[in-house]
Amino acid sequence: MASEPQTVMQRMFARKTIAQVQRETASSELKRSLGKWNLLLLGVGCIIGAGIFVRTGSAAALHAGPAVMLSFVVAGLVCAFAGLCYAELSSTLPVSGSAYTYSYTTLGEFVAWIMGALLLLEYGLAASVVAVGWSGYVVSLLADFGLVIPAQFTGPTGQVLMRDGAPLLVDGAQVTAIFNLPAFLICMALALLLMVGVSESAKVNNIIVAIKVSVLAAFILVGGFIVLSNLGEYMATNWTPFIPENTGDGEFGVDGIMRAASIVFFAYIGFEAVSTAGQEAKDPKRDMPFGIIGSLIVCTVIYMLVAAIMTLLVPYASLNVPDPVAVVVDSFGAQWAWLAKTIKVGAIIGLTSVVLVLMYAQTRIFYTMARDGLLPKIFSRVHPKFHTPYINTMLVGTITAVAAGFFDINVLGDMTSVGTLAAFAIVCLSVIYLRRAAPDLPRGFSVPLYPITPALGILSCLYLITTVPFNVLIFFIYFLVGAVALYFIYGMRNSNLQHDQMMDDAPDMGEFPGPVHDN
Ligand code: ALA
Repeated sequence: MASEPQTVMQRMFARKTIAQVQRETASSELKRSLGKWNLLLLGVGCIIGAGIFVRTGSAAALHAGPAVMLSFVVAGLVCAFAGLCYAELSSTLPVSGSAYTYSYTTLGEFVAWIMGALLLLEYGLAASVVAVGWSGYVVSLLADFGLVIPAQFTGPTGQVLMRDGAPLLVDGAQVTAIFNLPAFLICMALALLLMVGVSESAKVNNIIVAIKVSVLAAFILVGGFIVLSNLGEYMATNWTPFIPENTGDGEFGVDGIMRAASIVFFAYIGFEAVSTAGQEAKDPKRDMPFGIIGSLIVCTVIYMLVAAIMTLLVPYASLNVPDPVAVVVDSFGAQWAWLAKTIKVGAIIGLTSVVLVLMYAQTRIFYTMARDGLLPKIFSRVHPKFHTPYINTMLVGTITAVAAGFFDINVLGDMTSVGTLAAFAIVCLSVIYLRRAAPDLPRGFSVPLYPITPALGILSCLYLITTVPFNVLIFFIYFLVGAVALYFIYGMRNSNLQHDQMMDDAPDMGEFPGPVHDN
């Protein structure tokens, strides 16, 4: 149909209709086969990763001390508000997609574009963070077997390497890292696997979830036993004070707990995977909140127990290491050396799967955006033999590998948290928008206490954003400005929606491998 010339505002707020999105996803008729426990496990599987295995250490050591346990409660609550909003959107909009699709159908194209940029931080950059965490455990495990990777190749460019709280000295000189080779390599290797079509099967995923949860359970059981044998002394030595006094520059005290909350927030990323299964839930009204809130509660309990044992058994200041869980197990005593190795192996397997899933999600988002015309078509080009978006995957692999190889995990992690918090705030806003714009739309699940829940979601996400270091916020603003500029330079001009041409001819890549389509 011929379209009238549109103003820039009209173009920015152009929305996909629900019918359009339905048409695009029509080829993937999903079966309602997931019960509430499946959903809960799906969530736990996606959530547990570098957040608990790595980032908890620096959050405790540098910002909150033992009170990092409270940071987990704060971050879990923020996720619960956002999670309920995700659940409402996924049960209302009949689309199987990410927050990008939700935005496109509610707040319009410009916000969807921004959401796409934020998701690059949530998934792409998160993959880099987890890869750096993976590298920490691999370097540590190899060292246990006498294989030492030269220290210069185990850290971000320019960082002075530390051991036991002091600069690492080789021949009397400080060692500065050149780049993180293992982190770089794991990203490239997993991108290759994704390119040839290896994405995890549900069965492999279940096994990996079992491994991750088992090593943490072993840590909690053995560590808990040791702690309980001498609780009073451990508390007196390492938990006094439980909330270290504020140092005046935002570290420790209540400020430090909040700052640490924005760090350990990373440990919860992934729970929204439950909401994307909204179309497959047997009874979304009952099962979605159970899956989302349930997995958040289970992970919060696991995280708090792990954090309690970590901070009770060793002084919190010694936890700023690449493999804090293993360091704590080392303190269990020589008879538990095998457990330290087992935990490292479990962490490595678990973290590998998290990197894979995050990269996979990132390629899907780029793919969808390319189908919508918002990214160049090359992102949706599918390999004739492997049936995967190979160029897109290689690019995602390279971006994540470079970020993991050259940048500091704390900066990467903070950027991921900020991007994800902003994405969650938009999701909460979308719920409010849709309630007003389409109050009669049937909702499988409605957030309780509307509008308080989404409003608290927005406010709490924005608040946590303000707790990250100023330089990260500046970097984030540059990133957003770049994204906005790219929208006007490329996205708006090439969007299919603007040209009234939906990509009905494109292959549906809801599930890889998809149909062959290379042109
Ligand atoms: N929540 C995931 C992790 O902790 C991203 O690794």
